[in-house]
Amino acid sequence: MASNLPVVRHYHELRAVVQRWRSSGKTVALVPTMGALHDGHISLVRLARKHAKRVVVSLFVNPTQFAPNEDFSAYPRDEQGDWQKLASARTDLLYAPPVDDMYPEDFSTRVEVIGLTSGLEGVSRPHHFAGVTTIVTKLFLQCLPDVALFGEKDYQQLQVIRQMVRDLNFPIKIVPGPTVRAPDGLALSSRNAYLNAAERNVAPHFHAVLQEVAKDLATGRPVHEAIFIGRDRLEGVGFRVDYLEVRDAETLIPVERPLSVPMRVLGAVFLGKVRLIDNVPVPMPGG
Ligand code: PAJ
Repeated sequence: MASNLPVVRHYHELRAVVQRWRSSGKTVALVPTMGALHDGHISLVRLARKHAKRVVVSLFVNPTQFAPNEDFSAYPRDEQGDWQKLASARTDLLYAPPVDDMYPEDFSTRVEVIGLTSGLEGVSRPHHFAGVTTIVTKLFLQCLPDVALFGEKDYQQLQVIRQMVRDLNFPIKIVPGPTVRAPDGLALSSRNAYLNAAERNVAPHFHAVLQEVAKDLATGRPVHEAIFIGRDRLEGVGFRVDYLEVRDAETLIPVERPLSVPMRVLGAVFLGKVRLIDNVPVPMPGG
């Protein structure tokens, strides 16, 4: 049953509500999203409830993280459907600001993390993370939460935000949420809606191959061999591989001595026009 879920559009209203909660001693969690919500987003809302007394979800399709050739205008939007799902998940407040409020005509500031953002997603999407960190900074300052939740599905994004929070001393705890998958292994994503039936059948192989690469690495296979085999398998079932890499799970630096540090296998592939990203941890010896 959906409860009454208030929606605010302006950050002054958001701040006023959050301030009221705070002055009555309640902690606040923020879950930033771009809407088109699925069970992955909702799992973050449920996790947020375990970390704070009140949960705010922001819904804002952020134009500055899309390149001109990407799907900003076509990005799926369904605020009414999103509202229903959030109300059922017992969200306390939905913050859905208009674009002009977030980016007035004379907006001229960018918040950018360097280093971590240059590889992986940063190669084919060079301005993406600056858009993400700028909007997340705004959302943090508008809401002033105690805790903010981000999915491991977008693993590089999670690490970039952790770095930003450390560097800029945001008094906000970043809590990661595990990737929610369909029963066949495909990570839930708003962009899965673009897959046709044949592509949807192929899509779960992406996660399966990432798992195989991780298993190979755990048994001591050299990184370049595991990657070579993984790429070959992905291409064999019809993916075009954008990248498939093994990185230090914390710094995202390429791994020099496998299994000396926690590792992550990260990939991006195209199926037709649809770009999918996913990642898995490499099981550690004895872990
Ligand atoms: P969006 O793609 O809507 O994702 C919102 C949050 O949901 C992110 O933290 C993302 O990692 C998480 N998420 C997406 N799919 C998931 C899944 N299958 N399992 C678990 N969590 C999942 O990421 C963004 O929006 C934007 O970049 C944003 C941070 C909101 C800034 O605009």
